[in-house]
Amino acid sequence: MKTYSIALLPGDGIGKPVTEAAWNVLQAAAKGSGFALKATTFPWSCDFYKQTGAMMPADGIETLGRFDAILLGAVGWPAEVPDSVSLHGLLLPIRKAFVQYANIRPHRLLPGVSGPLKAGDFDILCIRENTEGEYSGAGGRVHQGTADEVAVETSIFTRTGVERILRFGFEQARMRRGKLASVTKSNAQKYSMVLWDEITRLVSAEYSDVEVTSYHIDAMAARMVMAPETLDVVVASNLFGDILTDLGAAIQGGLGFAASANINPDRSAPSMFEPVHGSAPDIAHLGIANPIAATWSGAMMLDHLGESAAAARIMAAIEATTKTGIGTAPGKDRTETIAKTILTFLN
Ligand code: IPM
Ligand code: MN
Repeated sequence: MKTYSIALLPGDGIGKPVTEAAWNVLQAAAKGSGFALKATTFPWSCDFYKQTGAMMPADGIETLGRFDAILLGAVGWPAEVPDSVSLHGLLLPIRKAFVQYANIRPHRLLPGVSGPLKAGDFDILCIRENTEGEYSGAGGRVHQGTADEVAVETSIFTRTGVERILRFGFEQARMRRGKLASVTKSNAQKYSMVLWDEITRLVSAEYSDVEVTSYHIDAMAARMVMAPETLDVVVASNLFGDILTDLGAAIQGGLGFAASANINPDRSAPSMFEPVHGSAPDIAHLGIANPIAATWSGAMMLDHLGESAAAARIMAAIEATTKTGIGTAPGKDRTETIAKTILTFLN
C-alpha cells in the first residue's frame, strides 16, 4: 500500500490539540482510501528551546527534508521565548529552506458559519509570496540601546521570486473563476512594487483567459470587507499577504476556520501545512481550540500528495459538521466534540 511519511510538528499552545485532532481525521480518511500515513512527531517548540537553547536541532532541516510533507500546529510562547526568536528558529527557516514560495490560504464561509459581514457568499484564494519580500531577514541594528540607535530592515524582491508567485497565481485563477487580483503599493513604494506591477503585466500577456486587476493594499483591505464576493485569486507579497489573510480569516468567522499550505510547487522539497497562525496562549489550556483549520490544512496536504478523493471526503465531513452548528463559533464547542463529529461524518 502507498505510504506517505509525514513529519508532525505540533509546536506550542493550541498547536498540540489541533494537530492531534487533524491527524486522527487524516488517518481515518486514509483508511478508507487505500493509502497509509505514517507519522513521526518532533517536539520542536518553545519548550524544546528552553531545554536545549534552540527551536530545533542543527540538522533539523535535513531531517525534515526526508519526509513527504510536514503538518505543523503553531509556534510561539511569547511569555517565555520572544516571538522573534521562536519564529526565526523554526517556522520561517522551514518555509525558506524548502522553497515553499507559495502560501495558499482559502477564505470562504463554511455552511452554518456566519462571519461578521453582511455580505453574502465569497470564495477567495489568497496566495502569499512566502520566501522573500518584507520577510527576507536582511538588515541589522547599530548603536544598540543608545539614543543614536538605527535599525534597518530591507525588503528584497527578485524578478525570479515575483514572477514565480504570479505565475502560480495565474495557474490557480485558470482552474477557478479566471480572475486574479495583484496587490501592491506601487503608488508609494516605487522600486519593488513597481517591479511587481511590471511583472504582473508581462506574465498576464501569457494568460489572456485570466482577467487581471492591480490593487493597492489599502484598497484591497477595504474591498475584502465591502465586496469580498468580487474577488477570486488574490496574489500579494509576504507581509501584505500575511495581513490580508488575517483579514480573510476574520471574514470567514475566525482563525479556527483559516487553513493554509506552504507549497514548494517544484516538489524539490517537502511542503508544509498549518492552520493560519497562532498558538493562542490565552485559550491554550481550555480545550476549546477549533480543529477545523488544522483539519482543512490536512486535507490540503492530501490534495498536494495526490490523494484528492480523501481530501474531498474530509472537506465534506467538515462541512457536514458545521452544518449541524457544531464548531461554528469561537469557544462554542470543545476541540474533542468538533473532532469527533468530523470523524462521524467521514464516510
Ligand atoms: C502566519 C504568521 C507568521 C507569519 C508569523 C507567526 C511569523 O502570522 O503564518 O501568518 O507572519 O508568516
Ligand atoms: Mn499571519
